[in-house]
Amino acid sequence: MRDALAQAARIIDTALDAGGRPCLTCSFQAEDVAVLHLLRARRPEIPVLFLETGYHFPEVLEYRDHLTRQWGLHTVSLRAGAPTLHPDTPSECCHQRKVEPLMAGLAGYDLWFTGLRREQSPTRANLQPDEQHRFPAGLTLRKVSPVYDWTTAEVFAYLAANDIPVLPLYQQGYTSIGCAPCTAKPAPGEHARAGRWGGNKLECGLHTVTIKEA
Ligand code: ADX
Repeated sequence: MRDALAQAARIIDTALDAGGRPCLTCSFQAEDVAVLHLLRARRPEIPVLFLETGYHFPEVLEYRDHLTRQWGLHTVSLRAGAPTLHPDTPSECCHQRKVEPLMAGLAGYDLWFTGLRREQSPTRANLQPDEQHRFPAGLTLRKVSPVYDWTTAEVFAYLAANDIPVLPLYQQGYTSIGCAPCTAKPAPGEHARAGRWGGNKLECGLHTVTIKEA
């Protein structure tokens, strides 16, 4: 592997050394697990925030629970208070079941680690490893994406090199995994996120609700 690994470790070290309370938002997709594995070497107790929408594939919940047990993770499930919206109105449903719990769940942290990567989507092409973001209600955090320029192959190579099992849904042909009703396998030749929301949108709002300040 190129020095992607050293670079990601440096991004993590620099962010943690600057101080503040860190957390990781983790969907348990492959890149999130790579970031988690790197982070827990420095901070085994780091809060791992999981947005429990009520619509996850059972495989995701089983894998989350398996890694939580095996690695002794401090996994925190974030839920909407009393969700009323459903996947037939995907933008509103994502907002209620993901964006609102995220905004509530991130209060109390200063450093927000993610598994975002530039390669995932044109909407992420300009992603920087360390950004400053402000939520509409005023909460400001540093958003850190240590594997921001890793390729999909590098992510999977890292997991294989470290004997980390991946979410079994990848073996079935899924390439980007969100809620079950809004996640399909892409057709051959389609981009990795083509199966999300029937190809009708590229972002659920988690990464577009904030204002990037720096
Ligand atoms: S999404 O915005 O379209 O859902 P994607 O699945 O690519 O995003 O994941 C990008 C990042 O969003 C992940 O690295 C993770 O930080 C966060 N994320 C997405 N889904 C969840 C989830 N269910 N729980 C926690 N974090 C999530």
